[in-house]
Amino acid sequence: MKQLLASIAAVVIVVSLVVIGFTYTQVHQQQASLMDDLQRRSTLLADSFKESIRPAYVVKATSTLQSLLNKFAGRERLLGLAVFDNKGELFAVSAGLPNELVEDPQIPEKSMDSDSAVGAFSPQMPGKVYILASPLHQDEKVIGSVVVYQRADYIDASISDTWKNNLLRLLVQSLLFAIAVVLILRWIIYAPIVKMAEAIRQARSGQAGGDSAMQKSHGFFKPIVAEITKMSQSLVLARTAASEEARMRLEKIDSPWTAERLKEFFKAYFKERKIFVVSNREPYIHSKIKNEITWEVPAAGLVTALEPIMEACGGMWLAHGSGSADKITSDAEGKIQVPPEEPQYTLKRIWLNEKEIQGHYVGFSNEALWPLCHMAHTRPIFRKEDWLQYRKVNGKFAQALLAEIKNVQRPVILIQDYHFALLPEMIKNSRPDAEVGMFWHIPWPNAEVFSVCPWRKEILEGMLGADVLGFHTQQYCNNFLETVGKEIESLTDLEKFAITHKGHTTYIKPFPISVPFSNTEAEDVPHKSELLEKLDLKPKFLGVGVDRLDYTKGIMERFKGLEFFFEMYPAYKEQFTFVQIAPPSREGVEKYRQFNAEVTREAERINNKYENNGWKPIVLLKENHTHEEIFPLYRAANICLVTPLHDGMNLVAKEFVSARNDEAGVLVLSQFTGAARDLKDAIIINPYSAEETAEAIYKAITMPAAEQHRRMKKMREAVKNYNIYRWAAEFLRAIINLG
Ligand code: F6P
Repeated sequence: MKQLLASIAAVVIVVSLVVIGFTYTQVHQQQASLMDDLQRRSTLLADSFKESIRPAYVVKATSTLQSLLNKFAGRERLLGLAVFDNKGELFAVSAGLPNELVEDPQIPEKSMDSDSAVGAFSPQMPGKVYILASPLHQDEKVIGSVVVYQRADYIDASISDTWKNNLLRLLVQSLLFAIAVVLILRWIIYAPIVKMAEAIRQARSGQAGGDSAMQKSHGFFKPIVAEITKMSQSLVLARTAASEEARMRLEKIDSPWTAERLKEFFKAYFKERKIFVVSNREPYIHSKIKNEITWEVPAAGLVTALEPIMEACGGMWLAHGSGSADKITSDAEGKIQVPPEEPQYTLKRIWLNEKEIQGHYVGFSNEALWPLCHMAHTRPIFRKEDWLQYRKVNGKFAQALLAEIKNVQRPVILIQDYHFALLPEMIKNSRPDAEVGMFWHIPWPNAEVFSVCPWRKEILEGMLGADVLGFHTQQYCNNFLETVGKEIESLTDLEKFAITHKGHTTYIKPFPISVPFSNTEAEDVPHKSELLEKLDLKPKFLGVGVDRLDYTKGIMERFKGLEFFFEMYPAYKEQFTFVQIAPPSREGVEKYRQFNAEVTREAERINNKYENNGWKPIVLLKENHTHEEIFPLYRAANICLVTPLHDGMNLVAKEFVSARNDEAGVLVLSQFTGAARDLKDAIIINPYSAEETAEAIYKAITMPAAEQHRRMKKMREAVKNYNIYRWAAEFLRAIINLG
């Protein structure tokens, strides 16, 4: 729209300049011609008047002269007449001529001196008056001067009329032109382009009717339409082939899982059944910044993992609407179609007030359950009021979900994470026909650790409402079984890994979460990362770390490891730079705010210690970076440090591996991550040991290319074989097996 207005403005400016130039010339000529006319008429009048008055003037017949003057003066545009004698004295003047005009003898004197007609505009009169004086002769001798006073204000009026008319015409023409341009663009260009874009989108997303919609496009777009139609038909063919192939591969567990295959799998086994995902964190956050609405995908492993599944299977995702522009971008029910650029499923936002957020998210989820489940030596804080809000918010989500599934037969519900431990039971109690899967994205501690939680029974019973309960690793499943055995009365089937409680059976299974992974991933990413160029970094060796600013991620220990590395291997000073991307997280929680400040201080301390010649060992970037921004960095890095103190899985490790289709680069991975079970070819370390971390960095940097390839190849195979689509399929398969 801006460009359109700018183009119209540019054309209007150019046309205006032309019209103004043209009018200027026109009025110039008009003025000259009117002046000519005025002079000519004044001269004729003066000449004829001279002939009439000469006899009376010569004999000084004043009254005759006066009556002649008055007779002549009555004419149109003639203001009056006067006669001056040869000494410049006023001899006679017609009635009604203003005094200030005749008091000035300059012009008649000039005419007598030069013996020729002299004309000029009166400087005294406010309206324009033209004065022409012509010498009066007798026997070729100048005996006086006849002066004609003409009104000339009509010249200015005529010029200003010309300007007005031309500018008015210009205004009308500009207006008509702008309207014509808008209409032409709207109907002839914009509307067909919108139609074409919609048709292309339909064709791309496999919806019917794309081609026929496009065929209706007309005019000069016909040739493009023909080409795009062919392209979209090829796309449909390719899609059909891919879906047919996916259908055939459905049961061959060793062939790679793709979005297409997952879609086919879902269609084949769930037919028309609808999928509902529930999580606290929403996949798209809309914000209003300086009156402009923007959206972002949050830095959250859960979103990284579930978004591709929702895109493949469609359905509805219920989550807390936390963005400043979430309300204005959703409808009255809090719904919005996402992804914003190419909608594939519905996001239903649930609104929480400050008290609920504080108690449910900040308090019980992140100050109690998070430290309780992670062994990172941070004490959980259990507050009764947080627990009450936690229960209330679980109830609120349950009500919203139950309303959505009211008319849905056997809905498939996938509840995510520790924010909703009570939700499975709440749903199952109201809708026993719903098939409920729950996935716990963080570790499950051993029974003894968990036993400190005052509301452990309610939490376990809530979770046991699920039909399938997933954890990342077998170890967490074991811990859960042990916890339930210790805390509540139930029947455990160790063969099937199932717990029966109050007549309902829950299957406990490991599903190591993953990333989409594709062989072509980031293929077109330039080798030299744009981010590095932006940062003006040209290190010989580059290390990278990508973590939310969370105390479980081991960022402080990692920095200690880096410090130790430069102590032990000083030759790498000015050679090795470590870029740590660390977007702030959970800033409502005091511990996280402290941690943010500590990390900044620690990076500064180490940088102050070693920086030299414009080089510094640690580049700490606290902004949220998109996947597209991080991928080039993964590709440019020699090593990636993933060193949490405890982590359910850690998808950064898998993303790094997935990005390295050049099969180079080394992953240094904490032994306390779920990922360490899947990526055995990483350099596995104990992140608490700065020495071990430093040695691992050295080993990674100096690792021969052949060994890097061998290790990376194996890790890529592992991620490729168990990517996010397989994770979803395995989880869904466990739900299918229930029936
Ligand atoms: O890894 C655990 C987890 O809660 C994920 O479920 C989520 O993706 C991530 O942490 C981000 O946490 P938050 O939603 O609190 O920003």
